[in-house]
Amino acid sequence: MQAAPSSTALAACRRSDHFIRIFPKPMVEHSVARKAGEGLMSDRFHRNEAGEEKYLVLHEFIKEARKKLNHNTWDYLVGGTETETTLARNRAALDAVALRPRVLTDVSRVDPGADFFGHRIRMPVVLAPVGSLESFEAGGGASVARGAGAYGVPFMLSSVSQPGIEETAEAASGPKVFQLYVRGDQAWRDDIARRVIATGYDAFAITVDTAHYSRRERDISKRFVKTWRAANTGMDVQAALSWDDVKRFRDTHRIPLILKGIGTGEDAEIAVRHGVEVVYVSNHGGRQLDHGRGSLDVLAEVVQAVGGRAKIMVDGSVSRGTDIVKAVAMGADWVGIGRLYLYALAADGAEGVRRLLEILEDEVVKALGLTGVNSFAELTRGHVHQGAPMVTFPNVHSAFPLLKEGY
Ligand SMILES: Cc1cc2nc3c(=O)[nH]c(=O)nc-3n(C[C@H](O)[C@H](O)[C@H](O)COP(=O)(O)O)c2cc1C
Repeated sequence: MQAAPSSTALAACRRSDHFIRIFPKPMVEHSVARKAGEGLMSDRFHRNEAGEEKYLVLHEFIKEARKKLNHNTWDYLVGGTETETTLARNRAALDAVALRPRVLTDVSRVDPGADFFGHRIRMPVVLAPVGSLESFEAGGGASVARGAGAYGVPFMLSSVSQPGIEETAEAASGPKVFQLYVRGDQAWRDDIARRVIATGYDAFAITVDTAHYSRRERDISKRFVKTWRAANTGMDVQAALSWDDVKRFRDTHRIPLILKGIGTGEDAEIAVRHGVEVVYVSNHGGRQLDHGRGSLDVLAEVVQAVGGRAKIMVDGSVSRGTDIVKAVAMGADWVGIGRLYLYALAADGAEGVRRLLEILEDEVVKALGLTGVNSFAELTRGHVHQGAPMVTFPNVHSAFPLLKEGY
């Protein structure tokens, strides 16, 4: 058991960032230093029954989601494929990168903002597309759109989430992307693309790592089948997709195209040759091919292959501000988060998503400042070291070690 802290230690703690993260009052003081309307912590504090701020650390969303979701939905959220090796490697790849801080660089003006297709966003973070959002919270995609908009980052709507293209767009106040699983012929695809463009989405994503639906044994063992999968037809269309389909889409529709699920430099090169605007490095959060590489281990060869000719996104186990800093330092333009915002959605709907992003931003600001930069643009490859020793055994929640200790 830990000894009780001495009064000197407590006084030092009160002056430290640690104290700021635990007690709301200094947070308000911290936000005063920022421009009006851009406070790190909003005035609409979400409080629990005792009147305290409900969420101060990210793992509190995981605990709340666990309480609210039934077993099937929880497993659908956290699970991966078969041995869940790819899922663990996503985390391992992030953990194997250490930050190389530079000091005495005047980091008094940290601004984590970024650009996204002509929009200014608060961090280079995008809410990744997720099917069946409505199973986590009734509002589904509309709640995600509201949460992302209230905070100030883009979200991606999956074609297998509710509500659909138009209704979700109505709830959005910021940048938005539509993601398609290809389940129909060219006419079917063209119709969807036209609706997406007409509704004002900023980009169109085609997910390409899902030629076959994988064996997710948590679901199979419980005989659990998601509603959209039970009703779903057209998996054979997705399996038969080729680069010709990418070319045809690119030649037919005027909207930035994202290919999501790129796992090698070779495919990144082909994507760029096909005029793709964004190469999205992802292994579907370890939910498709098992025994693949962790996303961050793929990033370097993709950055090299793309050579600045397209934007680069990456996702996979991104759970902390430091993860975002590492990914951008290694060449990503934007970083996707999946499970992380689903916990917040399940815990508290749109407000949960907004609040989660606010706390994540606090981590990001501290990670940037302590690495020695004022912005993401200042990060370089020199700020990271690859091959750091592992300190925790990686799993879906290993970025939150305090969970194990009952916090
Ligand atoms: C519950 C769940 C459903 C998902 N559904 C989709 C989807 O419909 N389309 C898609 O392209 N990716 C889907 N993904 C993958 C995410 O877009 C993203 O690549 C992944 O979650 C990133 O890993 P992370 O959850 O560890 O952050 C899903 C992921 C989860 C966890």
